[in-house]
Amino acid sequence: MTAGPAQGETTEFTNPNLELMYSADEIAERVRELGAQITAEYAGNELVLVGVLKGSCVFLADLMRAIDLPITIDFMSVSSYKDGTQSTGDVEILKDLSNPIRDKDVIVVEDIVDTGLTLTRLLEILGSRGARSIRLASLLDKPEPRIKKELKIDYTGFVIPNKFVVGFGLDVAGRYRNLPFIGVVKDPDKA
Ligand code: IMP
Ligand code: MG
Repeated sequence: MTAGPAQGETTEFTNPNLELMYSADEIAERVRELGAQITAEYAGNELVLVGVLKGSCVFLADLMRAIDLPITIDFMSVSSYKDGTQSTGDVEILKDLSNPIRDKDVIVVEDIVDTGLTLTRLLEILGSRGARSIRLASLLDKPEPRIKKELKIDYTGFVIPNKFVVGFGLDVAGRYRNLPFIGVVKDPDKA
């Protein structure tokens, strides 16, 4: 361990290779709105938030604190099989839910919907387990590469252009999940 950055040096959060897309304040405001909407729509029901690991963890942590209802949370981890860089839609469950969702109202919480292949398969798997309802919340919606056009996102934070974004849970090779904002990596070959 060394001491912190010297004056004038850039840090992970001030990395000049990142271009700001949504600030922490903008995200907080939007998450508050989504939480208020979910609170109003689910009043009187037993709501389970299912976070899809790992990308959803930051959004889930904020969203759950914006929902003023008795809720529980659970997690799933899936890996999508890739054919080159394109996901094939086949998913392997690496970690399943800890509790049954039978007769529960479920909201699956994701970081971003891109092609929609992974989530479509995940929703099919969860759809066979007798939940009362299953909806989808995603912090980001990147509709341009969407293959599963029929996939419905019930609660969307922001609709974004076809750019690779990081921060607020989103990563490139595991890095940048801790950024408090959402940014675009300007040059993917640079750190
Ligand atoms: P898809 O919808 O099956 O293509 O897979 C979506 C997954 O790809 C997301 O859950 C992310 O893990 C990842 N992903 C897609 N676009 C981005 C991005 O712009 N930044 C970081 N991860 C992304
Ligand atoms: Mg993900």
